[in-house]
Amino acid sequence: MDDNNFESQYKGFKVLRLLPNTVDQLQYLSDISTDLSLVIPNKKIDFWTQPKDVNSSVDVMVSPDIYIDIFEQEKRTNDDQLMGYRTKSWAQNSSSFFEAYHSITEIYQFLEDLHSIDTELSSIETIGTTTENRPMKLFKIGTKSKDNSQKPIIWIDAGIHAREWIAPSTALYIAHKLITSSDSDVKHMLDVYDYYIMPSANPDGYEYSRLSDRMWRKTRSHNPSFWGLFCRGVDPNRNYGYHWGSAGSSSYPCSETYHGKAPFSEPETKAISDYILTKKDNIKMYIAMHSYSQFILTPWGWTSELPKQYNDMVSMGQKAAQTLQQRYGTHYKVGSSTRILYAASGGADDWAHGTANIKYSYTFELRDTGVYGFILPVRYIIPTGEETFDAIKTMSYEIKDEYKLKAINT
Ligand code: ARG
Ligand code: ZN
Repeated sequence: MDDNNFESQYKGFKVLRLLPNTVDQLQYLSDISTDLSLVIPNKKIDFWTQPKDVNSSVDVMVSPDIYIDIFEQEKRTNDDQLMGYRTKSWAQNSSSFFEAYHSITEIYQFLEDLHSIDTELSSIETIGTTTENRPMKLFKIGTKSKDNSQKPIIWIDAGIHAREWIAPSTALYIAHKLITSSDSDVKHMLDVYDYYIMPSANPDGYEYSRLSDRMWRKTRSHNPSFWGLFCRGVDPNRNYGYHWGSAGSSSYPCSETYHGKAPFSEPETKAISDYILTKKDNIKMYIAMHSYSQFILTPWGWTSELPKQYNDMVSMGQKAAQTLQQRYGTHYKVGSSTRILYAASGGADDWAHGTANIKYSYTFELRDTGVYGFILPVRYIIPTGEETFDAIKTMSYEIKDEYKLKAINT
């Protein structure tokens, strides 16, 4: 490699000398250093020396964006040293969170901060663990019923596909809006429902797309067979157990739509589906957030046939799309996955409708329509959050009317 080439490839890279001074810090560094995914040349974090002992230094080359993440932002908020690095608290000014896409650690920190705004109204539950041992966290928010009876639930998960970064941000925007708004409509929504929001349904994949391969989509599990040695991960939205393994999914581990060796082979889809089954009779709507294309999709994804309740599903989807459009003119198309997008079996929405019997089940494909695609600039996080919140609000009110749901404690 000639010097010029090197200059351009490693522009702004820095080598940091880190000094772990507790066993936890050492463990943290060893965990990162043994993740082979990070050893790809010219990627983001490269261990020049390996972590060895407490109080023995480690040299790490980092790309400029990582360096800025660690240092420049933190310098402004506190003087913690690198190893004492903590994410800042967003409890006071939570909307500043939406000026960037964040790591899983920061996302979970943000959930804690949101929870601390009103500990009566909200709670956080870990419902499972990923392949790489990250917790799967669920943020629950709604007014407590006096007799502790179970309220109707609206479920939203996001980010099951790793590279679709706007999805977790939008789910978090909705959580943030629900807990911070003093709007009487929002209060009413919380009196009627409990909202269960999982900002990241695929934390391993998400981190991998931040640190190693921005275009990563799948989970990070190890695959069987010869090809499994080369290709990791399962498409979790082909891994749900309703008409699993049929149209639009692959049995080849290197495919982006690999359905896995069995339905729910992934700890992530297993945890979510097991949890949903315990609450299914109360869940009035299931929504999975993806990007991009600006669609509100209904089942089925496995066949071009339409579900029995399609007319109701699609007409509510259209009402949602109408309110969504009112805010910024963003246009969404509404229809069944197979008919307006493509056939793809093993999706969460099909399973939620077909197995868990949740009448209203949707996949939202958020902004944009392809100008930026997955790489949606951060200035669109808030507008996307606002208009999507409008859609969720409309749907919440529609369902409330249909089932004549009552606000509790009134
Ligand atoms: N883009 C999403 C995917 O490919 C669409 C999912 C729609 N739902 C479905 N069951 N096919 O996973
Ligand atoms: Zn997706």
